[in-house]
Amino acid sequence: MSSEDEKRTAAVASVGLVENGMTVGLGTGSTVAYLLPALAARGLDIRCVATSPRTATAAGELGLRIVDFSEVDRFDIAIDGADQIAPDGWLIKGGGAAHTREKVVANAADRFVVIADASKPVDALHGSVPVELLAYGLSATLRELAHVVLRDVPRSPDGGVIGDYHGDLSDPAALAARLSAAPGLVDHGLFPPSMVNDVLIARGSDVEHRV
Ligand code: 5RP
Repeated sequence: MSSEDEKRTAAVASVGLVENGMTVGLGTGSTVAYLLPALAARGLDIRCVATSPRTATAAGELGLRIVDFSEVDRFDIAIDGADQIAPDGWLIKGGGAAHTREKVVANAADRFVVIADASKPVDALHGSVPVELLAYGLSATLRELAHVVLRDVPRSPDGGVIGDYHGDLSDPAALAARLSAAPGLVDHGLFPPSMVNDVLIARGSDVEHRV
């Protein structure tokens, strides 16, 4: 089974957690792209908030009711993908540069569900951590953080500049605290285990459910 099939399998498994009347946060990415039609097919009376314009457009075209975040102060459930899932539950998100909005939605959710193919669980977080930076004072923020490479991509819908922090990821809690404390950094792609309720990982046609 391909990783695309696994993304679909995990996404389809997650829609069983959504019930009539719920307010639902929708993530961003290729795994979420499989979630949207599966959720629409259930025909539930739900309202959804999207974490990106591309999710909002795709969900709306499928007939899902998208409302503005200003109408919502909490979610019954939010469902999203991840780039890396560590054994202790830390996530790296933001490959699609939507991590700031995704973290606001995940934090406001009673139940935050991660859906993933089998390539996403890792022995240890590695590589880099996506960051969103204020355009104001960008040079000073880059100097302070020292290890950020900017991406050649459009700004976020909120005007943020997107980059990736390259450095030691062996202590995610310490790094998350350091990044969060840096003035000019809007948010980063490290999501703590305390924010995550369920992880659905598809391996072939099986789905591992980590809680
Ligand atoms: C977007 C994200 C995505 O959830 C993450 O990059 C995983 O994407 P995909 O489902 O395409 O593998 O954090 O900002």
